[in-house]
Amino acid sequence: LARGPAAPDLAGRHVVVSAGGTREPLDPVRYLGNRSSGRQGYALAATAAARGARVTLVAANTDLPDPAGVDLVRVGTAVQLREAVLKAAADADAVVMAAAVADFRPASYATGKIKKRDGEEPAPVALVRNPDVLAEVSADRARPGQVVVGFAAETDDVLANGRAKLRRKGCDLLVVNEVGESRTFGSALNEAVVLGADGTETAVPHGPKEDLADTVWDLVAARLAGPAG
Ligand code: CTP
Ligand code: CA
Repeated sequence: LARGPAAPDLAGRHVVVSAGGTREPLDPVRYLGNRSSGRQGYALAATAAARGARVTLVAANTDLPDPAGVDLVRVGTAVQLREAVLKAAADADAVVMAAAVADFRPASYATGKIKKRDGEEPAPVALVRNPDVLAEVSADRARPGQVVVGFAAETDDVLANGRAKLRRKGCDLLVVNEVGESRTFGSALNEAVVLGADGTETAVPHGPKEDLADTVWDLVAARLAGPAG
């Protein structure tokens, strides 16, 4: 589908987008990971650049072509993603957390490959909590008026869970997707509701991830107070 030139309504703005899924290593060859492709985050980065923003894309384990005109920072783990997002957020007008950040990581990392032994049961994998980057960015806004956006994939009670999550995270907008086995992950299509901390609800019909991205930037632009700079 051809898109006309976008209005440069994000000119002079710096936006940070996280994309992909973190991987939490167990040993040099194994990790705990998730199925996020990074496509929604890349669509957000590309559409923001098309609308004139300076974009920092923090990408966790993605295998997608580099979007043009975007500063790409590659990370692996949740801890690395946190560091990169906080650094870029310091002078950002908006932060959009589209990455699937692992809630837990292995409590310890084996520097050598974990081996099995005859007659021995495997040891359980102990996990610890990862930092919550979205909650942290929301609580400690690096500049006044910074707009913070989260994403949530829910399988049940989508709106009620979304509202509760929005309050818990303290962000301005939460994009809630309903997911099932084959929906959303790795697909070019998406269907969502964007919940606002101000009580607003914006339904985004089934369509390309670029359409959802444009709706997110419309809502962000409307919340950015005053002129850029
Ligand atoms: N997120 C984050 N840091 C984490 C976990 C999640 O920044 N450690 C962000 C995600 O990038 C996303 C939002 O928080 O924008 C919601 O993620 P989700 O996994 O739905 O939220 P959780 O609070 O982890 O809730 P759940 O127990 O349902 O996984
Ligand atoms: Ca989670």
